[in-house]
Amino acid sequence: MPRTATPRHYLMVRPTFFDVEYSINPWMDPKKPTDTDLAIAQWEWLRDLYLELGHRVEQLEPRPGLLDMVFAANGATVLNGQAFVARFRHPQRQPEAGAYLDWFRAHSYHDVRQSRWVNEGEGDYLVAGGRILAGTGFRTDSRAHGEAAEFFGVPVTGLTLVDPHYYHLDTALCVLDADTVMYYPRAFSPDSRRLLEELYPDAIRAGDLDAAVFGLNAVSDGRHVVLPQAATGLIAQVRERGFEPIGADMSELLKAGGSVKCCTLELRT
Ligand code: ARG
Repeated sequence: MPRTATPRHYLMVRPTFFDVEYSINPWMDPKKPTDTDLAIAQWEWLRDLYLELGHRVEQLEPRPGLLDMVFAANGATVLNGQAFVARFRHPQRQPEAGAYLDWFRAHSYHDVRQSRWVNEGEGDYLVAGGRILAGTGFRTDSRAHGEAAEFFGVPVTGLTLVDPHYYHLDTALCVLDADTVMYYPRAFSPDSRRLLEELYPDAIRAGDLDAAVFGLNAVSDGRHVVLPQAATGLIAQVRERGFEPIGADMSELLKAGGSVKCCTLELRT
């Protein structure tokens, strides 16, 4: 039985000023050369793919000097038309939050709030059916989980990340539909692993190689699953479950520790 896609609304930021000049996660090596034009080409391919799949894509203007701004997922979490705006952990990214606050206000979102505690948007908050799965350990402060629960009025389930390579929840777990997820068990603390096993006994589990090419940094519309093309094991597993995998080449953005999902913020009305 083929699965059903639902049209989505995404916010993206063109990597016009993309570069790796500092290191705030283990993937970033400022000594490695980056190719901004290639990053832009890879990003444009992703945007065009979303449009072809029938999704709406909105763009927020990148700002010079904000090298990681392409990772729109980190800017906010948006649910029921409410925008919970990020407060970034590292000074290099802190000014991005203002751009998101401005954007949501300019686009007539009535309920816009910046969190009091560090929170890196959909990097660490993944909407899964009626709940939000929320990561902590490296970026988002667990006190911001409670804030999100109160702001959105939905249950928030905290998960602790333990491997610095998987510093955001969206590098270690992907929501495929309301009750299907795929994740990399080794990225989580023993307690969080047990919790995931309880919540999702039928989850797809990723192996080391697929996780290391950011295979879990994927975007699903309920039918199509866009994920890094190098994640060949996950591509096969996702196909077996009746989804339609689409491989993406985001090699340039991976140099900053990001891929498909990091570039995509979902606007849920
Ligand atoms: N260089 C960025 C950082 O470390 C990458 C962010 C990736 N985004 C994500 N949603 N995982 O903040």
